[in-house]
Amino acid sequence: MTRPPAGQPAGSVGRVIAIDGPAGAGKSTLSRALARHLGLQRLDTGAMYRAVAWGAIARGVDPADHQAVASLARTMSINVGDRVTADGTDITEAIRAPDVNRAVSVVAANRDVRATMVARQRQWVVDHRGGVVEGRDIGSVVFPDADLKIYLTASGEERARRRSEEGPARLARRDHLDSTRAASPLEVAEGAKIIDTTGRSSEAVVEEVLTWL
Ligand code: DC
Repeated sequence: MTRPPAGQPAGSVGRVIAIDGPAGAGKSTLSRALARHLGLQRLDTGAMYRAVAWGAIARGVDPADHQAVASLARTMSINVGDRVTADGTDITEAIRAPDVNRAVSVVAANRDVRATMVARQRQWVVDHRGGVVEGRDIGSVVFPDADLKIYLTASGEERARRRSEEGPARLARRDHLDSTRAASPLEVAEGAKIIDTTGRSSEAVVEEVLTWL
């Protein structure tokens, strides 16, 4: 049982599975399969940071303008499910566009944006009575007491192949920024199980993870 956020009664949070790792490691495939097997909802927290980056671009706000982007993050209503919406606009495809890929790491390095998103992620888990949550800091910061923490990885070549539309150089740059930023960098959380998905089928990875539950 994951400890509920301050102020929440014990027992109000169900099972939480935290999945972290770099881009293209296989987090989305694994989190979808686990959510289906366990009857839980899935939250893609990367989509939340992407939504804020999209919002900045759409409003002509410089993604590096700390205060402006932090205030945008506080006021934007973001809904992440099968579709992603921001203030009622469907941005599911728009948040995967190259301009968002380029801006999102700067937005995600903004401490105030992170504080807003982390609070919403914790509330989402309370509202959904647990869930499979994927991102970069889920096991380390958002849910350090998760029932299971997984760190997925794969070789740089394989990850670049899976995200070929982004290009290997841009992907490597984004991963570098995400791993070296001061605020909640991507890292292996204490107690996380590490899986290298290089050359493995998604079915084999899911099967292995299910043996840990
Ligand atoms: O998972 P993704 O590639 O869609 O994530 C987009 C960006 O968001 C990624 O470059 C890093 C950032 N991110 C983050 O900082 N923390 C999270 N929990 C999830 C994503």
